[in-house]
Amino acid sequence: WSRRWRFYPGFGTMLSAAAAERNKEPILAVLRGSVSAERPLQALEISSGTGQHVTHFAKALRNIIWQPSEYDHQSLTSIEAYRAHYQLRNVKPAIHLDASLPYQYWGVEPESLDLVVNINMIHISPFPCTEGLFRGAGAVLKPQGLLLTYGPYAVNGQITPQSNVDFDHSLRQRNPEWGLRDISLLSSIAQQNGLFLERIMDMPANNKCLLFRKESLV
Ligand SMILES: C[S@@+](CC[C@H](N)C(=O)[O-])C[C@H]1O[C@@H](n2cnc3c(N)ncnc32)[C@H](O)[C@@H]1O
Repeated sequence: WSRRWRFYPGFGTMLSAAAAERNKEPILAVLRGSVSAERPLQALEISSGTGQHVTHFAKALRNIIWQPSEYDHQSLTSIEAYRAHYQLRNVKPAIHLDASLPYQYWGVEPESLDLVVNINMIHISPFPCTEGLFRGAGAVLKPQGLLLTYGPYAVNGQITPQSNVDFDHSLRQRNPEWGLRDISLLSSIAQQNGLFLERIMDMPANNKCLLFRKESLV
């Protein structure tokens, strides 16, 4: 995850991640096709990183109130710098959120959200973060709410192409608890938490968007 610094006097430090710059528009296109552009909606982004995604999405989807969140304190400062820079009324102040903790620690009300977005965290964090993400999303989403995850994944135990195999290897060398996760494993964890894998979308650079729908109790 390469990133460079940008200093904005008076606004704080807006970090910039090259990958986020490249993937923010393709992910926005998926959001446009998956959520209402008119109904007022509430969204939580988990592991917002620099703040590039949440501000990009909020500029385009004004009917959605966005709650950014991060685990890393330097990233929280960057998100606040983006908020100050863009002055978006539909982006709330960023909150500290550890995805591995039960949602009661997230500061988010149960069944209060229409959308949870999580970009490039699942493979770059220990597995309890992924388990916590699905457990928490299952709790904080309204019935029929949507969880969107983005990143590279394994499919039926296979990682393709070779560049993703190499990426997985480099991640595991950096931290043995990191690495690409299998979609079928994510799907079964999701189901244990009342979420159903509705759609898998191929994205540029051998990434995918996974769309999980919260099942309604009938
Ligand atoms: C590769 S970065 C992706 C950031 C951003 N979503 C993006 O795509 O630019 C991985 C992120 O996961 C976050 N992270 C790591 N552990 C976490 C945890 N326990 N809870 C929430 N986020 C976590 C890191 O702080 C980091 O911002």
